[in-house]
Amino acid sequence: MSKKIFSGVQPTGNLHLGNYLGAIKNFVDLNNDEQNECIFCVVDLHAITIKQDKDELKNNIRETAATFIASGIDPGRSIIFNQSKVYAHAEGSWILSCMAPMGWLNRMTQFKEKAGKDKEKASVGLYIYPILMASDILLYDATHVPVGEDQKQHLELTRDIAQKFNKDFDCEDFLKAPEPLIKKNFSRIMSLKDGLKKMSKSDPSDLSRINLTDTKDEIINKIKKAKTDSFPIPNEDQKLKDRPEAENLLGIYSSILDQTLNKTLEEFGGKNFSDLKSQLADVLSSKISPISDEIKKLINDYEYLDKILAEGAGKAEEIAGKKILEMKKIIGF
Ligand code: TYM
Repeated sequence: MSKKIFSGVQPTGNLHLGNYLGAIKNFVDLNNDEQNECIFCVVDLHAITIKQDKDELKNNIRETAATFIASGIDPGRSIIFNQSKVYAHAEGSWILSCMAPMGWLNRMTQFKEKAGKDKEKASVGLYIYPILMASDILLYDATHVPVGEDQKQHLELTRDIAQKFNKDFDCEDFLKAPEPLIKKNFSRIMSLKDGLKKMSKSDPSDLSRINLTDTKDEIINKIKKAKTDSFPIPNEDQKLKDRPEAENLLGIYSSILDQTLNKTLEEFGGKNFSDLKSQLADVLSSKISPISDEIKKLINDYEYLDKILAEGAGKAEEIAGKKILEMKKIIGF
């Protein structure tokens, strides 16, 4: 069955292995299935919910587009664009924020994590950010949204908002509730320094993550320094309970090779972490270094990247522009 795919990545720099294994690698697989219509968005309006440097933001928008292409998304087949170029996203977000009850937003755990202790100082944009995400998805009638585990709650909210809009305006099935595409395993890659913390671009320690622009040597060094525990690697997955660092490294190895955790445990059960680390560093550098090299090549080609983003925005505008007009008509504008 053909799927309409929509997903987004924030251009906030330091795209990492978590973004790749949780999301971008799946974008590539979906892009490669000719039956799918795919739209991949550089969500720059989301990025400004936290203060950004103007020049860095500009570079990061291009770098995110370069990362999509370097990872294997074909801009001839999938639409790649940046959100701020298509006005309907912000307009849709306003309309939906007038439908969504505050109680629903108050439940969003990511806002609580990102706002930290001083909630009063967080921007209103950060609070209503999941509504902008709902607008992104619903404007394109997306049927499937590939994301990492941390976005699951936002997708549930998107479904609720779609259903409420349809009910409030008596327009059954106008907004389509999308299905999340979250991998059953390894959809949450953890920090290399703390197996209980998500791998994240905002972690102050660069050793906590593999960046998609890291060199071979940097990857080898980071895996060498990754936290482990003092027991040998077990043979069964049940024995990984309460061993988050071991589980994470074995999960990364399985995910990058597209194999089950059990297969990885068969390979390493009874061995020491030094064996796993040396294999993992090899596999990661052979898979990530070519992407990293390609990003570095593409990032200097402003003309090419800007052309891809402009063409993508034109195609996205055609779809989202129509939907927002219908939406406004339904409301009574
Ligand atoms: P963002 O930019 O934080 O992350 C981009 C994608 O990477 C996934 N991800 C991870 N997956 C596994 N392990 C990790 N440690 C990890 N860290 C990040 C995220 O789940 C995400 O899929 N709100 C979204 C962007 C967005 C969006 C959308 C997504 C805006 N509009 C519409 C889908 C559809 C975000 O901030 O992702």
